[in-house]
Amino acid sequence: MKRSFLIFTFLMGAAWTACAADPPAWAYGFATPASATPAGAPGGGGRGFSGGGGRGGSGRGPGGPGRGAPDTTMLHLDGSTAEFTRTQVNDGYGPADWFPNEHPQMPEVVAKGRRPDIRACALCHYPNGQGRAENAGVNGFPAEYFIQQLKDFAAGNRKSADSRKNNTNAMASIAKAMTDEEMKAAADYYAAIPFKQWIKVQESTTAPKTRINVGLFLALDGNETEPLGDRIIEVPVSAEQTETYRNPHSTFIAYVPVGSVKKGAALVKSGQCALCHGTDLKGIGPVPTIAGRSPSYMMRQMYDMQQGTRKGMWTGLMKPVVAPMSQDDMLNIVAYVATLAP
Ligand code: HEC
Ligand code: HEC
Repeated sequence: MKRSFLIFTFLMGAAWTACAADPPAWAYGFATPASATPAGAPGGGGRGFSGGGGRGGSGRGPGGPGRGAPDTTMLHLDGSTAEFTRTQVNDGYGPADWFPNEHPQMPEVVAKGRRPDIRACALCHYPNGQGRAENAGVNGFPAEYFIQQLKDFAAGNRKSADSRKNNTNAMASIAKAMTDEEMKAAADYYAAIPFKQWIKVQESTTAPKTRINVGLFLALDGNETEPLGDRIIEVPVSAEQTETYRNPHSTFIAYVPVGSVKKGAALVKSGQCALCHGTDLKGIGPVPTIAGRSPSYMMRQMYDMQQGTRKGMWTGLMKPVVAPMSQDDMLNIVAYVATLAP
């Protein structure tokens, strides 16, 4: 009796540690939990930089030639008079700006970065700052919040709880290399562009089958689905528009578990998030707006803050909020927050 109780406790303990030790893989852009990936093995994503970052095209793609030969095919987008090669689209030090009339003039650091350590912000976050699920929307924040985040990254206070997520480390090295002037220029630029809602939240029991490219889930051709389970799967509406063209108009869809939005709404109410994040979670003072932002991004942040890998100057205010939350609570919360109009 005593013995079986001990074994039971041990097994429960082991089961609990296994779950608690694993960040929610879906939020970090992986198909499998961190503990299932042997050390040193390449993960499902997150290696290197978002979008290849200008180390040449991948040679796939429309009419793409084989490896080695430069792809000189000119790409075009509806509504844009610009044209770029695939290599230009992904140029880490001057990526495509398809719609230059839709945003103020970019400061140098946003448009081009600074060799060798600072890749253009526009590469990962887009010229309009809308960002993508594997990085972050960076527009529409108070400049004060934005700058504090760069300082936190630079000081090593924003790391990923899933150590496979290399693009968080890339963001940190970029911040470390930035001067105060560059931080201010980028912060003021992106602060002046409102974040526009572009992630459709859909409750579902299934999600598209996906492949993962550097931390971003992409729906496979053929409309095949798989059970969603306790995950949020956030994908570009058009994998080609987002991956090949980096089209800043091409939107996202987040498949969330049935019932999660309602549960999340209740948790946001009882958690009094609005006290700090403002009415409808649109931000107050330097506290960031979170309405309508990427649920995968927000899930990573809440989990990172709970685990203490994000521990910036102001994270102390969030720490007691996330401390008692289960992963399910966080999932429900971000499903709901992503539905809100920014
Ligand atoms: C290689 C891709 C990449 C580039 C280039 C890049 N970032 Fe980031 N950035 C990221 C990622 C990834 C995150 C989110 C990290 C995470 O989820 O852990 C991020 C997050 C941020 C955040 C935090 C947003 C928030 O809501 O707290 C800010 C601010 C930011 N980046 C600013 C910049 C600026 C300014 C530049 C240009 C100097 C830049 N980034 C260039 C990948 C990049
Ligand atoms: C006591 C004030 C306070 C309360 C209450 C609060 N927050 Fe926060 N929240 C903050 C601050 C301050 C930050 C910025 C943290 C930092 O700079 O590290 C933040 C950051 C966040 C972020 C990350 C934003 C980003 O762009 O990276 C998310 C997501 C978030 N909060 C969600 C919530 C939710 C959901 C609730 C309610 C359950 C909540 N917060 C309640 C103060 C608060």
